[in-house]
Amino acid sequence: MSLDYQPSTQRTVSCESRPHAKIAIIGEAPGATELIKGKPFVGRAGSLLWQCSSAAQITREMCSVHNVLDVKPKNITEFYDAKRGVFKTAAEPHLARLKEELEQTEANVLVACGAPALAALTGLRGITKLRGSILDKSYPGAVLRVPGRKVIPIIHPSHALRPAAAGKFGGYLYRWAIIRDLKRVKHESAFRENRVPHRNLLMGGRCEEYLAFMNDVYEHKRPFACDIAVMNQEMSCVCVTINRQDTMVIPFTTMQNSNYFSQSEEKALIQGLARILQDPDIPKIFHNCLFDVDFFTARYGIVTQGPIHDTMILQHVTYYDMPKGLDFCVSSYCENIPYYKQERKTWKQVKDIRQLWEYNAKDGYGTWEVFENLGKESKDRGTWDTYLFCMKLVRPLLFMQRRGTKVNKKRMQGIKVELEKDMTRLQRELNELAGETINANSPKQLAN
Ligand code: URA
Repeated sequence: MSLDYQPSTQRTVSCESRPHAKIAIIGEAPGATELIKGKPFVGRAGSLLWQCSSAAQITREMCSVHNVLDVKPKNITEFYDAKRGVFKTAAEPHLARLKEELEQTEANVLVACGAPALAALTGLRGITKLRGSILDKSYPGAVLRVPGRKVIPIIHPSHALRPAAAGKFGGYLYRWAIIRDLKRVKHESAFRENRVPHRNLLMGGRCEEYLAFMNDVYEHKRPFACDIAVMNQEMSCVCVTINRQDTMVIPFTTMQNSNYFSQSEEKALIQGLARILQDPDIPKIFHNCLFDVDFFTARYGIVTQGPIHDTMILQHVTYYDMPKGLDFCVSSYCENIPYYKQERKTWKQVKDIRQLWEYNAKDGYGTWEVFENLGKESKDRGTWDTYLFCMKLVRPLLFMQRRGTKVNKKRMQGIKVELEKDMTRLQRELNELAGETINANSPKQLAN
């Protein structure tokens, strides 16, 4: 790649360089307003970006502001193949210029706004999954390496200006994720290094080590987060996390899908699990407990006792509109667990079952940390009592899931009619209050 950057004859928009800034914002390309004003991020997307930044205590003056392209392309596809996540030859001089610009800053964090910036800095694809992750490795596909800096991708602000696809997370709601991720950027910008938390993982250990771990949980009545990795309808491994550092993953199958332990060892381990799951004094945390708790019952006859917590329900109650998957929760509430859900599939390709155990461990310590951090937010936002109320339904639901339930169709129809009447009344009240007809399902209308 040549560093002799020859500006094209097209009108260019230079970066807004601040060599001492600790944050560098990297967008895609200038738009029409940027061309007129000759500055990056001064149009509608820019205005949204700075609004979100301000909510994260970041000002424009704290940032060095750049774009992958410094010209407004007719179509980004001239430069970037979004499907494959690769740049075309036409982009090379732009990437070389951007690299030079970034090397001249002291930025600790490079904020990749949108997919092309993420691809340029890391070679990775999947901005909605990777948003909020702290990325610091030299990824093999990165076309532009600025070593020693952390890359944090955020959703491009222009996507928060478009309506979301029906029923999908997107549009206005993206602001929530952008602000959260920018808060992380602010925090991380204060230091250069990537402070990856230390974790003690008991993985691929001996039977006695696992029994000792579970005995300690039992003796000290330690709350734990738990997650099962199921393959071919069997438990391939199970993870137990007891604090931010300590996690064990018990393997049950090997790479060749044979048993990891002898029959008597496996029996002792399942009994160890049963003892802590059935202890009424030990709280357990799951993400989607209806799956794991039911699996233990269906497969081993273990009926989980004691307080059950569920981070998926906690998320649903606390941030109703947001996605509820563990991947989204981990990327939003955990301090430094980069997106890892692809490992669920890749361990087979790399033929390394340890990757599955690590994946299982991340689900476990991710669930633990989501519970701690989101739990605190829930209490601050006043949703905790509603969450506890919802959790009361878990046992009856588990029972219904296992045993089925009778349905009174006539009564349900009656309730439907009553609810529809209520909805009509509430819509009328809403319209009266607003002075116009409001579609409560339209994020666009609600935003204005
Ligand atoms: N304005 C910019 O400067 N860059 C973008 O990516 C979008 C708007």
